[in-house]
Amino acid sequence: MSAVRACALRAVLLPVTPGPPPGWTVRSPDAGDHPRVLAVLDRWWGGFGGGAGSRERALLVPRLFLEHFADTSTLVEDADGRLVAFLVGFLSPARPGTAHVHFLGVDPAVRRGGLGRWLHARFGAVASERGAREVRCVTSPGNAASIAFHTRLGFRAEPGDLLVDGVPVHADHDGPGLHRVVLARPVADHDPGRIPCPPTSP
Ligand SMILES: CC(C)(COP(=O)(O)OP(=O)(O)OC[C@H]1O[C@@H](n2cnc3c(N)ncnc32)[C@H](O)[C@@H]1OP(=O)(O)O)[C@@H](O)C(=O)NCCC(=O)NCCS
Repeated sequence: MSAVRACALRAVLLPVTPGPPPGWTVRSPDAGDHPRVLAVLDRWWGGFGGGAGSRERALLVPRLFLEHFADTSTLVEDADGRLVAFLVGFLSPARPGTAHVHFLGVDPAVRRGGLGRWLHARFGAVASERGAREVRCVTSPGNAASIAFHTRLGFRAEPGDLLVDGVPVHADHDGPGLHRVVLARPVADHDPGRIPCPPTSP
């Protein structure tokens, strides 16, 4: 069966990933959103990593990311305008064909409802449309929820130089002591059939 027919078949047979409910706003972030994003990080990450984790997280989402990656990033607000989820992602300028999800968070009050999956699906569709064939991201070895979530979405951990609880870890990946799990998935395999196939996918 051709890839196009397989894609069409999947789209018919399987349910579409549900998006945010009616009345919620889905838009690109802008620099003005920076304080709001920073304000939720500690609560949404459950204080992961203590004070050092908190400082690290804040520095991982600088204002310039919301400015320069706005067109490939998404912010979701509920009907009252409260921030409920965001994804910061971009297409690699140096590695054509590679897209990277840098940061993703969903308000604990609305977790396990498919919003994280939907944000990834949306990003995957944009990345595919722009020629990406792979989506990559990194997460912290101790963030079991993040590793479980990404695994459910079809990401696989790349071999590292340590094994922590069975998970391959890249030691000092982001600097001394900043170990990371490096995750990747092919775009075409992402969420097969649960979102309509991206317009330009084969
Ligand atoms: C990780 C996170 C984004 C998931 O968002 P979410 O909206 O709850 O995820 P979804 O409801 O779309 O879940 C998608 C899949 O992952 C699974 N999943 C989500 N959270 C999980 C968890 N804590 N443990 C195990 N599986 C989990 C879901 O069961 C679902 O699987 P299924 O559809 O195959 O049954 C959210 O928990 C979060 O914001 N965590 C804190 C920030 C963080 O760690 N971000 C990621 C690293 S940057």
